[in-house]
Amino acid sequence: LIGLYGNELGINVYVVGGFVRDLLLAIRSKLNGAKKSIPYDIDVVVEGDGLLFGKYVAKQLRAKYVEHPKFHTCSIFYRNGENKIIRIDIATARTEYYEEAGELPKVELSTIKKDLYRRDFSINAMAIKLNSGSFGMLLDFFNCRKDLEEGRIRILYPLSFIEDPTRILRAIRFEQRFGFEIEPNTLSKLEEAVANGYLEKVTGMRIREELEKILEEPEPMKAIKRMGKMKIIFHLFERTYYSPTMEKDLEKLFDVKNYFKNNLSNYLNKVRLFHLVLYVLLQYTPEESLKKITARYGLPKDFIKNLMQVKNVYNEISNELKNKEKISKLSYYYEKTNGFQNEQLIFLAVKLPEELLGKYYEYLRKIEKLKLSITGEDLLKKGYEGVQIKTKLEEIKKKLLNGEIQPGEEKYLI
Ligand code: CTP
Repeated sequence: LIGLYGNELGINVYVVGGFVRDLLLAIRSKLNGAKKSIPYDIDVVVEGDGLLFGKYVAKQLRAKYVEHPKFHTCSIFYRNGENKIIRIDIATARTEYYEEAGELPKVELSTIKKDLYRRDFSINAMAIKLNSGSFGMLLDFFNCRKDLEEGRIRILYPLSFIEDPTRILRAIRFEQRFGFEIEPNTLSKLEEAVANGYLEKVTGMRIREELEKILEEPEPMKAIKRMGKMKIIFHLFERTYYSPTMEKDLEKLFDVKNYFKNNLSNYLNKVRLFHLVLYVLLQYTPEESLKKITARYGLPKDFIKNLMQVKNVYNEISNELKNKEKISKLSYYYEKTNGFQNEQLIFLAVKLPEELLGKYYEYLRKIEKLKLSITGEDLLKKGYEGVQIKTKLEEIKKKLLNGEIQPGEEKYLI
């Protein structure tokens, strides 16, 4: 239909980028017998006025229309027959040029070939024409399909990473997602851009977006390992050295998070994987650098304080490991983590020695369900005052946790 509207307005319309890549991959895997779904986010480029075209299409389809005038693009949200929302982003064919490395692109009008040439990698630089008459025609100006078939990530022009250093992270994401290889010349350009500090020139928000996309991949660890080895982590987070200990902690983080998902899912409320990963990566980073990093990536105000709290608790626990009796009581974990946020509780699980993990999970399960049958009000009536009330309630909670009293017996302690 979109192509038909193009004909009605007399402009060329193409679907481009990730959609074409995934379509060709899906066709290939279908031929191999595998099932792969085709995505519902579609990038469309027109040779003509993208905004005018978008408005026209939205009207014809009775779809929602949103304009992004700064980038000269618009989006249409359309509910298809299967009741799925399809997002169609429409842009005018453009040669993007960047005034300075790391900045968002300025836009200048041009044609489809130039538009494709300015894109990140060959696998993302194909288009399919949608106009009726030539519907389905694949435009492949730069041997892209061959790269896709042979599993190669290749930039199309030498300054690609310099103009947009977020592509460094994208290269790794696609490489790991598809099990492709970054072609040697592209790899050397990528490494050069990293070593020359181009990642540092990008705003924290744009880097963060790319990192979050990596974390949404099915196996983010692969890309993280690669970024660690290539010193990308070091260039993203100053004075942060990726080490084997960190790698083990990260692997454990994904296991722990899985455990929480299956067994303690309430603790995942308000938890962001991005924060958890940064707790692990930044656990040895000096404090002055942490201040800059938290500001750069828009981390919560209390991020450093929370990280330090967990580190302190972890150190205390490490020193008390010999005291078997103490660490075997559930109240011990209450004392250590009372007031912790969920992200801190999960990070502590990553740091705890394996032998304590069972107890710790048992504690989390129990405290989650723990309800006292008396309240502060009851204590007030009995003559307790101020901080005494809080202390008494905590004492009772600990006794319940340890099984020293049973639920319902709280009243005998006041
Ligand atoms: N693109 C680019 N440079 C970037 C980001 C995007 O050239 N830094 C181009 C690529 O052609 C890409 C398209 O814009 O295919 C759309 O980008 P995006 O939606 O981020 O990625 P997809 O390729 O659709 O990948 P994904 O499957 O991760 O959504």
